[in-house]
Amino acid sequence: MPEASIFDQILDPANRANPYPLYTELRKTPVTRQADGTYVVSTYNEIVALLHDPRVSSDPRRHPGFADAKPAAEEDLPGLPLSFINQDPPEHDRLRELAMRRFGPPCTPGWIEGMRPWLAEVATGLIDKLSGHSRVDIVDDFAYPLPVTAICRILGVPREDQPRFHVWADAIIETIDPSTGTFEERLRRRRQVQAELGQYLGELADARARQPGDDLISGLLTESGPHGPMSREDVLSTGSLLLVAGHETTVNLITNGMLTLLRHPDVLDRLRREPGMITGLVEELLRYEPPVQMRTNRVTVADIDVAGVTIPAESPLALVLAAGNRDPQRFPDPDRFDPDRTSNEHLSFNSGIHYCFGAPLARVEAQVALPALARRLVNPRLVTDPPPYRPSPELRGPRHLLVEIDAVIPAAEAARAPASPKQTA
Ligand code: HEM
Repeated sequence: MPEASIFDQILDPANRANPYPLYTELRKTPVTRQADGTYVVSTYNEIVALLHDPRVSSDPRRHPGFADAKPAAEEDLPGLPLSFINQDPPEHDRLRELAMRRFGPPCTPGWIEGMRPWLAEVATGLIDKLSGHSRVDIVDDFAYPLPVTAICRILGVPREDQPRFHVWADAIIETIDPSTGTFEERLRRRRQVQAELGQYLGELADARARQPGDDLISGLLTESGPHGPMSREDVLSTGSLLLVAGHETTVNLITNGMLTLLRHPDVLDRLRREPGMITGLVEELLRYEPPVQMRTNRVTVADIDVAGVTIPAESPLALVLAAGNRDPQRFPDPDRFDPDRTSNEHLSFNSGIHYCFGAPLARVEAQVALPALARRLVNPRLVTDPPPYRPSPELRGPRHLLVEIDAVIPAAEAARAPASPKQTA
């Protein structure tokens, strides 16, 4: 048996809890070729260069193993056009520009920011439900429901239908997890769930076309950009993309965030007293424990020279964003968790034309969620460290995060009172 490469070890679920020493090893050779022909890139400048290079494609149909290895990108619904995360310019840019109109500046500045009070209410309601329990699961009880509730509101899913959406969002994520069945079983299940979701989104779009509201689906159906409006099919693909791209990523940000705070009780304590630190704290959490550790969906369409290596055309790439985030050439003392870090241009939302569309929303969700947990959970303690992880090396995060608590401070009291000493162990 040939020795497992560093990248093979990173892919191994046994190393999921702490892949960072392996990333340090990986960066010693910025570009490495794997036995299957994938080129792994692990240093900050080289990743950024490739993310901005028009000779790199995100279209799965250009992937040499597309027919057998990548039969179904999880974001895409069967029978519908590829969503824009899986497209290159000019189609990518046309669809993204149309979707952006409702999502933020320059057409709707303040829209996401305006959701902050409502998101705070949702977070309050979820934490209220923890009251009376001595052991809670930050994943199932809090981090999972928050983003899906947010995306339902954005898309305009009526409240009574939201439980179905939660089920689909969970099911799609479950089918990405290899421990939930064989590849064929998971593909079958994903196709079934995607078909149900597609049908639902189709009915929703038809209802909104008849009677538009103030939601994203209505906006996508009725508004037009310089290149015309979005087709009904593209609206459905975009709706599904937003659900899938924005769900587990945000779950992981909130969960990794709480885990990191519990491992750094001084920072947790400071957050209770200094809520204004949350903006820098969330950026550092994104850098330090990125929810998306790597992107493996890129392929070269021409020979490209990087760090003295020529990557031939038609080579799949693995861009290890999490290794770039800890590159000492870019970030001083990169393995230190430092919420006061300045110049923190991490790669966690990517860079270039596919820069995360939902970054403003993800930031607001985490900025609301973490201070609320910090202020209201009394004496939170990790039950197991490390917690159990989902196996995915790409979307990395705990499957559960069990925390013991002494009590839950009522929301009104937490808003009034300065952080109480009893909140710290
Ligand atoms: C902490 C949470 C999040 C993280 C870490 C994250 C990360 C990323 C990354 C790394 C990409 C680049 C993908 C690529 O280049 O192939 C991306 C793209 C994208 N994200 Fe996020 N994301 C988060 C939350 C969200 C949310 C909440 C939404 C939507 C509501 C969202 C929607 C998208 C979309 C639509 C794209 C595709 C952009 C394009 O292709 O132009 N993301 N995200």
